Amino acid sequence: MTKALILSGGWGTRLRPLTCTIPKTLVPVGNKPVIERLMLLLKEAGVKEIVLAVSVMSEYLNNYFGNGEKLGLILHYTNEKSPMGTAGALKLAEKFLKDDNFFMINGDIIINFDFKKMLESHKRDEEIGLIASRIVEDPSRYGVLISDKNKKIEKFLEKENFNPSIYGKLEMPINAGIYILEPRIFQYIQANKKLSLERDIFPLLALEGKLSHYPIKGIWKDIGLPFQLLEGNILYMNDVIKKQNSEEKNIIDNTVQLDPSVKIKSSVMIGKNVKLGKDNIIGPNVIIGENVEIGNKCIIKDSLIYNNVLISDNTQISKAIIADHSIIHHNATLQGNKENIVIISSYVQINKNIKLISPPNRAISVCHNEIVKTDRI
Ligand code: GDD
Ligand code: MG
Repeated sequence: MTKALILSGGWGTRLRPLTCTIPKTLVPVGNKPVIERLMLLLKEAGVKEIVLAVSVMSEYLNNYFGNGEKLGLILHYTNEKSPMGTAGALKLAEKFLKDDNFFMINGDIIINFDFKKMLESHKRDEEIGLIASRIVEDPSRYGVLISDKNKKIEKFLEKENFNPSIYGKLEMPINAGIYILEPRIFQYIQANKKLSLERDIFPLLALEGKLSHYPIKGIWKDIGLPFQLLEGNILYMNDVIKKQNSEEKNIIDNTVQLDPSVKIKSSVMIGKNVKLGKDNIIGPNVIIGENVEIGNKCIIKDSLIYNNVLISDNTQISKAIIADHSIIHHNATLQGNKENIVIISSYVQINKNIKLISPPNRAISVCHNEIVKTDRI
């Protein structure tokens, strides 16, 4: 097995406004696009060729990754004029994948696990598909797997077909969005038709007893919603720090200019060419991209700051995502809460003394290129 397909063609509507200017799979995780993290993990497992199933904003992916040479991979792109569904997208890649089993992955998940181990447990002759599974608190947001004790899947119920009142609040494995598939699957997918793997194909294969699942360990997060993107980034950073096998509790690039008065509270990740002024308190749970400048006396925690952001003095930021090229003027307060964070898209300006504070049940989102002149609370 040396090939994989990564799905990267959805609209990413739930991540808006972050996905107004980039496709969902280019959203950064630990300062690299989530899809690039997946490609690097696949490469470590011996994958050499990857098909990117692209549709919405495909030119952005094409411009970013080109033919894959920089990553040491061979990349192919399918092109759906409009999204063909996850099975329709797979069918378009048949010519690249018809000769051997292959990995297929949703391009919007944060993981850090060993694909090789999963491959070892795939039974080539018995199964058409092996589905990586997770136990989660609320299975109703995902595809739920009803299986027997040997992990053979009997029913595949995508979110809208899962009725919690039938299955109770039992812990149930869900589809983690990572599959090993045999080329036989192409016989089940009609060409030139919008079809969903999870709604049209997997339920049928489950009834025929041709799917199993494989529980995966370690970190796993779907970045469908902004607060999940924030949580996933922090999980990822802590996992990388843990695996470094050193005493170091932060990842700070050696080009970072850090005034000695700055207090860093672990864990923190800071990219290239970042300048931090006096008396700032940064962390815990902060990821800062490249070319970011932060003034003096700022307090930043539980937040992601993308590249090329400017933050002026006395700013307080918590539970927020600030996308690239935004400017936060002095004395601003950005304060989200667990599931309702403050989201600042690209090229935004927040005027001085502004307060953006999420109420308990609603996130605050600022669209790209907006200038915020009044408080939002
Ligand atoms: N090329 C292409 N074409 N890609 C698509 C299309 C399409 O028409 N529709 C969705 N995708 C891509 C998305 O970009 C994403 O990478 C992936 O397919 C999954 O789509 P989501 O829209 O994110 O689905 P979801 O998160 O609600 O549910 C899926 O993922 C869960 C795990 O994260 C399902 O596979 C669930 O069963 C699963 O539990
Ligand atoms: Mg998703």
